[in-house]
Amino acid sequence: MLSRPLVILGCGFIGKRLARAALAAGRAVRVTTRRPDKLAELAALGAEVIALEAKKQRAFAPPLIGTDAATVVYSIPPHNDLPAGVALARASQEARERGVRRFIYLGSSGLYGNRPNLDWVDEQTGISLDDAVMAPFIREEGELQQALAGGLHTVVLRLAAVYGGGRGVRKRLLAGDYKLTDGGEHYISRIHIDDLVSIIQAAEERAPAGATYLVADDRPALQKEYAAWLCQRLGLPMVPSPMIEPHQQRPPQRGRRLRNDRLKEELGVVLKYPSFVEGEAQIEAEDAGLADAQAGGVEEGKAGEESTSPSTSTSTSTSTSTSTSTSTSTTPSTSTSTNPSPSPTPAAKMVGVTVSVRGEVLTVEVGEDLGDTDVARLVAAVRELIGKT
Ligand SMILES: NC(=O)c1ccc[n+]([C@@H]2O[C@H](COP(=O)([O-])OP(=O)(O)OC[C@H]3O[C@@H](n4cnc5c(N)ncnc54)[C@H](OP(=O)(O)O)[C@@H]3O)[C@@H](O)[C@H]2O)c1
Repeated sequence: MLSRPLVILGCGFIGKRLARAALAAGRAVRVTTRRPDKLAELAALGAEVIALEAKKQRAFAPPLIGTDAATVVYSIPPHNDLPAGVALARASQEARERGVRRFIYLGSSGLYGNRPNLDWVDEQTGISLDDAVMAPFIREEGELQQALAGGLHTVVLRLAAVYGGGRGVRKRLLAGDYKLTDGGEHYISRIHIDDLVSIIQAAEERAPAGATYLVADDRPALQKEYAAWLCQRLGLPMVPSPMIEPHQQRPPQRGRRLRNDRLKEELGVVLKYPSFVEGEAQIEAEDAGLADAQAGGVEEGKAGEESTSPSTSTSTSTSTSTSTSTSTSTTPSTSTSTNPSPSPTPAAKMVGVTVSVRGEVLTVEVGEDLGDTDVARLVAAVRELIGKT
């Protein structure tokens, strides 16, 4: 188990999950944000929270003081206030001067550019040098080469789309702001947030200096396949794909299939969520209070078991619908945290709600606590009935 201190520069979606896992393992954790109040929960769990605005000249000195044995995870996206690469160059220089042990950079697998015909991609595939959107990431990786040459133990993780509770397609579908791009015929690789946390930890322990890894799960899916699967599971109508007129340019898409062989072979990573099926089941378990989000993961095996229970969509046209969602399970996971963390909330009881629109009736099974998914099911039922009348 890792015991060295962890510094997370830019503690957002990924950083918070990583910090929780490290705190649960008893590690000293330092995190940065522009708004320390946003990380009050982590502070309460024992993290040291430091305010950092990357565009300031000596911004990285305070969070890196006294970090000679630490691992630093750089998790700040490129931003417009500084020329590309400058913030990362400053951070890595500060880390080098302070004798930081590992410097792990969270980069992007979008570097392969907008090349729809490009199929499987691995670390040997040439990146696209003419993709303006991704240019800052390329610049940042260039800065890391300099830092490596200067003696810093750097590791680059080129991430696929990261999903998990509170982030990803599920959230956007529930918010009604997700659409297919160009018919959704392109592949997208993803990685579940808890697997990413484990991969970062494995990279700390085993990645050689200068290594680069593509970070993705085993099963890239067509955008439309994943969206259709999730819509059915959530009881939502399938999302549209806006028409592209003949005179319009096709929208850019950086979807492709990422190979994760190097990750597994060199770092010994075993994914808990090899595809979105297991990953989405974990999110549902977490939403239902069955999984522990504080420790950065669910108990081994639990999410996988949940994933074998298919959910029957509530948007079918039968007058009654059933749900076999994860909230029917009664096996809560336990936290391995040594830090105080809230107890898991019990699973919500399911109730049948009858929806009636102009004489058309549908019964929907929802959790008594009416979470986002339940509300979405009810809205979908109303929509379906309106469509019928
Ligand atoms: N999530 C993904 O799907 C994905 C995929 C590929 C690559 N990545 C890369 O992984 C990294 C982390 O992703 P994430 O999803 O965790 O991002 P996130 O939730 O947006 O968090 C980003 C963090 O960076 C901090 N930050 C942003 N601008 C800053 C600035 N000017 N000065 C100081 N701090 C600043 C934010 O601070 P505040 O707390 O003040 O907002 C936040 O803590 C990013 O570099 C991203 O490009 C993510």
